[in-house]
Amino acid sequence: MALPSSMKTLLQASRDFTALISTTSPLPTPSHPSDVLVRVHATAPCAGELFWVVNFPDVIPASKELVPCQDLAGTVVSAPPDSGFAPGDRVYCRINAERAGAARDYALARVDELAKIPEGLSWVEAAATPLSALTAWQALFVQGPLDKAGLDKNNLQARRANGYVRVLVTGAAGGVGSWVVQLAALAGAKAVVAVCGPDKKEAVQQLGATEVINYRDTTIENWVAVGPEARECDLVIDMIGGKTLAGCWSAVRAGGSLISVNTPPDVVKPAGLDKELAKSLFFIVEPLGSNLIEIGELIKTGKAKPTIDSVWEFDDFEKAFERLESGHAKGKIVIKVSEEA
Ligand SMILES: NC(=O)c1ccc[n+]([C@@H]2O[C@H](COP(=O)([O-])OP(=O)(O)OC[C@H]3O[C@@H](n4cnc5c(N)ncnc54)[C@H](OP(=O)(O)O)[C@@H]3O)[C@@H](O)[C@H]2O)c1
Repeated sequence: MALPSSMKTLLQASRDFTALISTTSPLPTPSHPSDVLVRVHATAPCAGELFWVVNFPDVIPASKELVPCQDLAGTVVSAPPDSGFAPGDRVYCRINAERAGAARDYALARVDELAKIPEGLSWVEAAATPLSALTAWQALFVQGPLDKAGLDKNNLQARRANGYVRVLVTGAAGGVGSWVVQLAALAGAKAVVAVCGPDKKEAVQQLGATEVINYRDTTIENWVAVGPEARECDLVIDMIGGKTLAGCWSAVRAGGSLISVNTPPDVVKPAGLDKELAKSLFFIVEPLGSNLIEIGELIKTGKAKPTIDSVWEFDDFEKAFERLESGHAKGKIVIKVSEEA
C-alpha cells in the first residue's frame, strides 16, 4: 500500500508550554532495528503528560519530537523480519515516553512494546488499555506483593497467599485505578478498598471493590482511625500524591508496602511518624508487550476490561485534554485518529 507523504500530527509546540497545536509532518521512518511502523487508529493521553518534559528532564530527552499520547492502537504497516509482527496485524502498546507518541496518523513502536489486540476489543477500547493496565499490573504484581498466579482460580496456593493481602487504591475510578481494582479483585486479594468521589462508588464496586471511601466525606486518616486493626492495608497504591498520599501513610500497616505512581511517598511522609514499611516507592511504568499479552488473556476471556470515560474526535483534542486535566475522569479518555476507529 502506498503511504502518504505527510500526516496529521499533534505537537507540543514548545518545551516550556503545555499548549498543543494540530499540524502536518512527514511520516516517521523506522531507524532502530526493532522499530515497527504502525498506522494509528486511536490513542489516549495520560494525566499530566504535557508537564513531563519540564518535570522529568532526565526521562524525556531533549531530542524527543514532542508528539503526545503514548498509548497506541493500530495496524502494522511494516515490521522487522522474525519480529512476530506482520503488515495488517492489529496491535496495541504503550510507546516509551522517551520517544514520540501516537497522536498522529503513523507512529513507531518497538517490537518489545507491542502485543496483538485481543479478539473482540475495539480500536477505542484497545487504545484505552496499555498504560493504565500495565501500570496497575506492575504496581500489584511486580512492585507489590500480590502473586499474578492468583489470577488463575485453580492456583489455590497463590490465591491463599493473596487472600491475606488487603489493598487500598486512591484515584480508584480513574484510568489506572480502575485496573488496580479489577486486577486485585481477580487475583483474590483479601479486600480492595477504593478511594474515590461519591459518583463513582457503584462503578468501583462493579469492578470488584469491597470497601469504598468517599474522599469528599472523609479523609483516609479518619477512615482508618475508626478501626486501624481491621482497616489498615498491606498494600496501598496511590495515584494522587499530595495530602492524599500523606494520608496513605496511615492506611498502610507497619511492614506493608506503599507505592505511588504520582510522587515518591517519602516526600510527604508525616513528620514524626514512626512506621517501618517493607517498601515505599515511586516507579515509572515499563512499556512491556509481554505484560500486555498476559493482560490480553484476561480481556479475551471476559475477566477484565478497560473503562472508558469519553471518546473524542482528533480535531477535538483540546477538549479531550481539558477533560483529562479536570482530574475527574471515570476511566480513560480516548482520541480517535483514523476513520475506522
Ligand atoms: N509513574 C507512572 O508510570 C504512571 C503511569 C500512569 C499514570 N501515572 C500517573 O498516575 C496518576 C493517575 O493517572 P490516571 O490516568 O489513572 O488518572 P485519571 O484517569 O485522570 O484519574 C483521576 C481519578 O482520580 C480521582 N481523584 C481525584 N482526586 C482524588 C482524591 N483526592 N482521592 C481519590 N481520588 C481522586 C478522580 O475521581 P473523582 O472525580 O471522584 O475525583 C479520577 O477518577 C496521574 O498523575 C498520572 O500521571 C503515572
